[in-house]
Amino acid sequence: MADTTLMDKLVSLCKRRGFVFQSSEIYGGLGSVWDYGPLGVELKRNVKDRWWRAMVQARDDIEGLDAAILMHPKVWEASGHVAGFTDPLVDCRHCKNRFRADDPRIKGTPGQPDAQCPVCGTRGSLTEPRMFNLMFKTFMGPVEDSAAVVYLRPETAQGIYVNYLNVLQSSRQRIPFGIAQIGKAFRNEITPGNFIFRTREFEQMEMQFFVQPGTDAEWFERWREWRMEWHRSLGLSPAKLQWHQHSGSELAHYAKAAFDIQYEFPFGWQEIEGIHNRGDFDLGRHQEYSGKKLEYFDQAQNQRYLPCIVETSAGADRVALTLLVDGYREEVVEGETRVVLGLSPSVAPIKAGVFPLVKKDGMPELATTLYNDLRQQFSCFYDDSGAIGRRYRRMDEAGTPFGLTVDGDTLANRTVTVRHRDSMQQERVGLDRVAGYIKERL
Ligand code: GAP
Repeated sequence: MADTTLMDKLVSLCKRRGFVFQSSEIYGGLGSVWDYGPLGVELKRNVKDRWWRAMVQARDDIEGLDAAILMHPKVWEASGHVAGFTDPLVDCRHCKNRFRADDPRIKGTPGQPDAQCPVCGTRGSLTEPRMFNLMFKTFMGPVEDSAAVVYLRPETAQGIYVNYLNVLQSSRQRIPFGIAQIGKAFRNEITPGNFIFRTREFEQMEMQFFVQPGTDAEWFERWREWRMEWHRSLGLSPAKLQWHQHSGSELAHYAKAAFDIQYEFPFGWQEIEGIHNRGDFDLGRHQEYSGKKLEYFDQAQNQRYLPCIVETSAGADRVALTLLVDGYREEVVEGETRVVLGLSPSVAPIKAGVFPLVKKDGMPELATTLYNDLRQQFSCFYDDSGAIGRRYRRMDEAGTPFGLTVDGDTLANRTVTVRHRDSMQQERVGLDRVAGYIKERL
């Protein structure tokens, strides 16, 4: 399957089955903004739940936080985003389109007579590059003047830094410890695209780990290992995951060292998570701009210092896309193409489909009882329409790992057929054991 075809097929499946829709579609859509449908919202929620479980609930040294999207505008001066969160842009004076100055489609040097607009083809119409800030601006209160400007946060991290002392004091944690947060972030990306890979509104899952200076390199290595392990635990193909180390020129203004976890998408190797050693840049800047002391007093060592930070920053949408890309496959079975989303059971939107083989002989009643019992424990789907093979296929492309069929034998010996999505193999499991059987495999 050609790589572009795979993305086209995935986008079409996502719309058809209710994973992802274009935002405001009936109005022609809104550039690079997407909505999650009934299956997509479950998939993304499962990704976030797995992250929260691994990062907060399963650890004693990380606390959760849910900070507001709107923050004091000085936060973004301190963070460096007002001055530095920019991309160089060029405009075409002829067709009015706007491009990143390094857009590979541009021929020649922007601002020079030989430069050619990649859309209308006019020569000499491209302006000199100008810096363009990626933060969305809005106004707080009724007056739309410069004093009322606030930004939609371009990352969740800053909400953690400005709350670091609040969390430290209220949770009675000691360094080393971390704060984790999942939330929306907004960037006015100039070259968004590749479906939900790069969007203007997205969700981040970020954790900031506060450590004693001098121990940051060691913690950085630990976090690299743990984060790669988490991605593998989602069932992603190990051969499609790799590290990318940021070289000097790639390093963000705040980072002492940075590695990306990359996945091999149909459009190339791309970042899904960044792990950054941020040193004491963030707390140092917030201390300076707020005028509030943000030092930590280490009682055991009778020592005061500004903690260093190791950050892990993943995109929930990107991880969801990675799972969809990694799981998508087509197989020919008995002369028919079967589309399968091979999602790990723990992230699959629906864990089990429940089907009465026929709509008679008490099978719908028994299947409904089973469905009502199972749905108290995990997400299920009841389907009694069409041939059983068709119902299995519908669940295959929704990524549902188990199909449970109530048939003649169920009435006779109280067992159901459990059909496995990937192998299509079937086995019989007792009605009273089926919930436990599935839970063990989630
Ligand atoms: N606090 C550090 C930070 O925000 P980043 O590398 O800019 O670092 C971290 O972003 C993660 O957020 C990325 O690895 C990606 O998964 C996600 N992300 C960033 N920009 C995105 C966008 N425009 N659309 C979707 N996800 C995005």
